[in-house]
Amino acid sequence: MTTTENVTWVRAASLAELGEGAILGVAIGDKSIALYRLEDEGGVFATDNICTHALAYLSDGWLDGETIECPLHGGAFNVKTGKGVCAPVTKDLQTYEVRLEDGEIYVAMPR
Ligand code: FES
Repeated sequence: MTTTENVTWVRAASLAELGEGAILGVAIGDKSIALYRLEDEGGVFATDNICTHALAYLSDGWLDGETIECPLHGGAFNVKTGKGVCAPVTKDLQTYEVRLEDGEIYVAMPR
């Protein structure tokens, strides 16, 4: 764990736990965070794991390219920007900066 001015970098998982095209839900403090690893070395991204529409875990959903589809009502978000891209979602998703270091995934959590 490393603290900089506004965020604390927290180890969330190892890269080996997250295959290409996979999603992993992790707990960081009292937050549930979803990690996404895009295919074709597209990078790793992090968002809140709970959908902004109702209580559903996006880590139970389906990742299609940069889009995560919610398992409950089929709403969808862009995992890079958090932007809602499909109804019934009306509120964007919180995203978090990700850093990869020595095969480990770190997420920047606001302080
Ligand atoms: Fe995610 Fe409804 S809970 S779209």
